[in-house]
Amino acid sequence: MAYNLLRGKKGIIFGALDEKSIAWKTAQRCKAEGAELVLTNAPIALRMGTINQLAEEVNAPVIPADVTVTADIENLFTQAQEHFGGKIDFVLHSIGMSINVRKGVHYTENNYDFTHKGMDISALSLHRILQVAMKQDAISEWGSVIALTYIAAQRVFPDYNDMADNKAMLESIARNFGYQYGVKKNVRINTISQSPTRTTAGSGVKGFDGFVDFAEKMSPLGNANADQCADYCVTLFSDLTRMVTMQNLFHDGGFSFTGVTQAIIDQMGK
Ligand code: NAI
Repeated sequence: MAYNLLRGKKGIIFGALDEKSIAWKTAQRCKAEGAELVLTNAPIALRMGTINQLAEEVNAPVIPADVTVTADIENLFTQAQEHFGGKIDFVLHSIGMSINVRKGVHYTENNYDFTHKGMDISALSLHRILQVAMKQDAISEWGSVIALTYIAAQRVFPDYNDMADNKAMLESIARNFGYQYGVKKNVRINTISQSPTRTTAGSGVKGFDGFVDFAEKMSPLGNANADQCADYCVTLFSDLTRMVTMQNLFHDGGFSFTGVTQAIIDQMGK
């Protein structure tokens, strides 16, 4: 069901790779709520993924941008404002990649070239996007920016590897830039800490299926799926959440505040 929560709003969605992507689902939900969109992803992802299918469905242009390249982000914001004929009301940062994870390098053995690259893509990219947006004064007053994160930023999940450090930094940037952009332009910036979700990025983590099953049993409501995450993003892009900023918001069926569940106790007793 749609509520027209984003009627007249214009947004940039980073990170829709294929139909499993959280960004893909969010683009569909934002469109259904009345938003106009620009889609973006890294040039290589545009070649490998199926984003054109989504672009057609939500009637949005696709503008390539590698989030590690400032000139690409500048071009993206310039072109998006030209396309919309005005400023941007919301941005979804749905981007993550660890080369150490991808190449199976253990956390204690991390290759720092890989670490730097992964940090640049997964965390610093939020700072770069916000810096460009602020310089171009591209985001409307009371605009809303969301980045997606995971609870490994606060608690240890050994196989999440250096992505845990990247997510801790991402959440810190949301808080610190949230202060600066709030004071300057009333722009709000939050992170959503999502349940493990079966997507391309998620499935790259070692033992991911076990991870998903454990979280399912440890969450009173079960795991939140990608569609539900998209719903939550819509509320945060809408005018109904104007005073929420600099927060890390758990969207995880209660996992983050649960010590243990009966389902886990029963499992241990087997
Ligand atoms: P996904 O693999 O569909 O999305 C990741 C996106 O990052 C892809 O579209 C990829 O092309 C993009 N990307 C990678 N390098 C880039 C670059 N240099 N420039 C621009 N874009 C680049 O996977 P998913 O799960 O939808 O990931 C979205 C976000 O959600 C990520 O931040 C991820 O860490 C986060 N998240 C995912 C969870 C999961 O279990 N899947 C749980 C909690 C958070």
